[in-house]
Amino acid sequence: MEWTKEQRYRKIDDVTEKEIQALAQLVNQCPWRQSFHIQPVTGLLNDPNGFAYYNGEYHLFYQWFPLGPVHGLKHWYHTKSNDFVHWENVGMAIEPSNDYDSHGVYSGSALEHEGKLYLLYTGNTRDENWNRHPYQCLAVMNENGAITKSDNPVIGDVPKGYTDHFRDPKVWQQGEMFYTVIGAQRENESGCVVLYQSPNLQDWQFVGEVKTDLEYFGYMWECPDYFEMDEQGVLIFSPQGLEAEGDAYHNIYQSGYVIGQQLDLEKSELTHGRFQELDRGFDFYAPQTTLDANGRRILVGWMGLPEIDYPTDKNGWAHCLTLPRELSIKDGKLIQQPVDELTLLRGKSMEAKKIMNHETITLDGFEGEAYELIVEFSANTAAEFGLELRVGENEKTIIKYDAAERKVVFDRTYSGQPFAENFGTVRKCKLDAEIISFRIFVDSSSVEVFVNDGEEVFTGRIFPNKNSQGIRLFAHGGQTSVKAVKWEISSDN
Ligand code: FRU
Repeated sequence: MEWTKEQRYRKIDDVTEKEIQALAQLVNQCPWRQSFHIQPVTGLLNDPNGFAYYNGEYHLFYQWFPLGPVHGLKHWYHTKSNDFVHWENVGMAIEPSNDYDSHGVYSGSALEHEGKLYLLYTGNTRDENWNRHPYQCLAVMNENGAITKSDNPVIGDVPKGYTDHFRDPKVWQQGEMFYTVIGAQRENESGCVVLYQSPNLQDWQFVGEVKTDLEYFGYMWECPDYFEMDEQGVLIFSPQGLEAEGDAYHNIYQSGYVIGQQLDLEKSELTHGRFQELDRGFDFYAPQTTLDANGRRILVGWMGLPEIDYPTDKNGWAHCLTLPRELSIKDGKLIQQPVDELTLLRGKSMEAKKIMNHETITLDGFEGEAYELIVEFSANTAAEFGLELRVGENEKTIIKYDAAERKVVFDRTYSGQPFAENFGTVRKCKLDAEIISFRIFVDSSSVEVFVNDGEEVFTGRIFPNKNSQGIRLFAHGGQTSVKAVKWEISSDN
């Protein structure tokens, strides 16, 4: 169904309770509702926003269009958790309500200050010619969870030299000062990020563009995030407009990072290494990080991409967030591990050990729709080895290691309902290692694969038949020794 502008920008207050209930009913009939991922009650979820530890709890907001599976009038929806694993739906957090966010409460971030949680976001507006005018706005949440918006934006004008693609402030504190990076587009239509500083989160001063080596690297950088770890600076952003290159950049838009020296806040300059993708899979975009109560840096991404139809659309909803990942740096690269707390979801377990030789096998009791699975392959002489999951009559999702090419491969060609096929159905990346381990989280319609303790991650939505629950292991052209452990997952745990 084509959505008109009027339908996309309808105010939620003009929608009857009955209509919302009918939509919720359609959503709940969907066979692909997730069981342990954050997903919208109705409508479309996109970027994670305002991820913060505040008042003893983790708060995670997201971009939300409540009325259907399309990008319309965006709100912030609020979820919270004590453990990064069990999330409570709190409800609507920020609605478009004034001249500075009339066409969408767009992405932003959060920081605790003087006992309150400050939420900095982009107010999107459109004029009568449908030209964009972005504002950076502030809302403050108190200990009771009540959120109050400021009447006026804290950053009004786009600085000279940049277009109206100017959004997604990520705020942090260093010493006495507050800083924010904002995703921007130069007038020559290349992407970059800019830096502002403030003594109080209210009055912001433009410091300058963050100078990097990436002079022309896509036409827009969305959702920047800057943090420091092990005395190094990490800039994450989501560039739009990169051409595919070898195994990289095959999704419609990309998401990755550069690591380097700490950002020079006076010169607004970042000395850094090459851009690296965060996720090698299909559905990952606009991640955001926060520091947890114990000093861990945790990342959550949108498990989806813009401008792509998904099979859940016909049930009135789209997308979910990824599981939270703990970040660390090793040899100039971000290592991403599922947070330890995810073991809380583990239910009944089973284990198996086998030597496989030119064969495909099943293991007793290994099957399911939602589970965690760790499979380790060692002593390999096989040309390729790996596993198939969500296996059914004509369906399978393949995760394997191609030993000749020394590449990890995630193949969703036969995963179920096809979608986004014009971007390819196979993703690969190079990995030189003798032992290959896959730690895999499978939910009703997603797969997240952490390879060799988080050296690489592959994330993808899949839409198999409910009955496709098989798991198979295989070794072709040689031998491998495999150890597998599986846990049933239940969010009731
Ligand atoms: C990224 C993005 C952001 C914007 C938001 C709007 O997915 O386009 O740049 O703030 O989504 O929903």
